[in-house]
Amino acid sequence: MTTIIDGKAFAARVRGQVQAHVARLVEERGIQPGLAVVLVGEDAASQVYVRNKHASTIEVGMASFEHRLAAETSEGDLLALVRQLNADRSVHGILVQLPLPPHLNSELIINTIDPAKDVDGFHISNVGLLGTGQKSMVPCTPLGCLMMLRDHHGSLSGMNAVVVGRSNIVGKPMAQLLLGESCTVTIAHSRTKDLVAVCRRADILVAAVGRPEMITGDYVKPGATVIDVGINRVARNGKTKLVGDVEFASASAVAGAITPVPGGVGPMTIACLLANTLTACCRANGLPEPEGLTA
Ligand code: GUN
Repeated sequence: MTTIIDGKAFAARVRGQVQAHVARLVEERGIQPGLAVVLVGEDAASQVYVRNKHASTIEVGMASFEHRLAAETSEGDLLALVRQLNADRSVHGILVQLPLPPHLNSELIINTIDPAKDVDGFHISNVGLLGTGQKSMVPCTPLGCLMMLRDHHGSLSGMNAVVVGRSNIVGKPMAQLLLGESCTVTIAHSRTKDLVAVCRRADILVAAVGRPEMITGDYVKPGATVIDVGINRVARNGKTKLVGDVEFASASAVAGAITPVPGGVGPMTIACLLANTLTACCRANGLPEPEGLTA
């Protein structure tokens, strides 16, 4: 029997843990974690993400600070806002929604965020800390995948993990996290030779390629755990449908466990953003980190 890993239920559990911890912080110490989200421009998908982040932040009892700036905002003005948020003691997490309009230097903006408040884990300091196995802020999507894998397997030590995709946001940090769990890790990508054979060696297969339904059952070792990070909108029978990077029907027939799309990794990303904000708040106040919500 294949286990369908229910990311929606798992994310609800994580949000519940965050909410309970926030309530204790407020009640016992008068500290309310705060998340600032900066959106520049009118990108439709980004507007939906930012709205969802705001609603979830409020729901767990945190303060939400939204900054919506015009598409033509100058780099100087955006940097000034980031520096203002860095200095604001009521803000524990800062997220600048990507992509930014093309006239803005994303790397410069992200690297201006105080690394301790970088709840995306994109700042070069956090990338370096994660790469060297030190305490860092961990990107939300890979953190969510790790939580689900730990929950399903317990120890991941000695397992063969293949991550398909080498992005800075998912593939590379995912590989670092799995290495931290003592997996034997392969990062595969579009130039990998005999990708099917490489993937078929995986006990844990993470698909983060951004190509709809590319990973079919042929890529999956019988009994493997398949984590599908893809979120692709495709046209089917005159309607748009959300599909992952994994072809669910064929892959789930072979896998031991698999995350569906929708309802797998997706809901975990926002839950982990809230977890990271709580972690940042605890660290800023010299308090113990929330158990089970960090890497
Ligand atoms: N745009 C799409 N996903 C993300 C994310 O996780 N963080 C940021 N900052 N921007 C995004």
